Amino acid sequence: MTPSLDEAVSAIRKYAPNFNPKVGIILGSGLSSLAEQIQNPIAIPYQAFGLSTGGVAGHASLLILGHLNGVPVVCLKGRLHMYEGVSSDSVALLVRIVRQLGAKAIVITGASGSLRREVGAGEIMVINDHINFHPSNPLVGPNNEAIGPRFVSLENAYDSEFNEIFLRVAGQLGIPMHTGVYLATLGPVFETPAEIRAYKILGADAVGMSVVPEVIVARHCGLRVLGLAAITNLAVGMSTEHVTHEGTLHYGELTARKLVKMIPEFLKAVEPLLDG
Ligand code: HPA
Repeated sequence: MTPSLDEAVSAIRKYAPNFNPKVGIILGSGLSSLAEQIQNPIAIPYQAFGLSTGGVAGHASLLILGHLNGVPVVCLKGRLHMYEGVSSDSVALLVRIVRQLGAKAIVITGASGSLRREVGAGEIMVINDHINFHPSNPLVGPNNEAIGPRFVSLENAYDSEFNEIFLRVAGQLGIPMHTGVYLATLGPVFETPAEIRAYKILGADAVGMSVVPEVIVARHCGLRVLGLAAITNLAVGMSTEHVTHEGTLHYGELTARKLVKMIPEFLKAVEPLLDG
């Protein structure tokens, strides 16, 4: 059973009654080193607010409150994936907690395979749109109007102003950056070579098993989104190297080193846009 949003948020508020995050951050596989940069962290296990977790290797499940570069954040270290068989309510709950705690924006990261030969492992792609190949959608079911509207526009879902700011920050730090379309599969299998060829024709630049359900829920509740595909491999069939979860974690750490530099600078740069 997924706890209600109000139950979960009041359990979290007991740990930090006066903490008001401005930005949420979801860390994907192998990307957890950013959480170590959080100052004065208050780490709350998901179980403490009633959410049971799947426990994939490489995903510890903690909600962490604290500051990054002086900006108050709520960081979700250890996301829930639909392929774990968890309900989409649980996936949605984590994003809605971010909003209910007061954040106006969310940074959603995810390990991904690249469909562009020139964008290899260790690179980062700023997501500018998505293609959803999940068989369902976390907003299916009765709509709670208090949270968001029944029909949600996904135009500019990946906030173009945020993307410009992130690209500028990357440029200032001298970190090469890419932009492109993220295609979400349910997983847990990696794609077949034929699927990757098909996804290329459809216009995908990166493929992964997360991000999109969270982006949909975030847009529903009015959070502005920065989506980042952390490239951990060339997609299946594009290289002689086999795609494995271990490889994902290894190259995830390489991208994490870049994200640790860029995300704090990005937060500082967007903070003035999030007041009021
Ligand atoms: N496909 C799907 N998900 C992934 C991949 C991939 O190639 N790499 C990391 N996550």
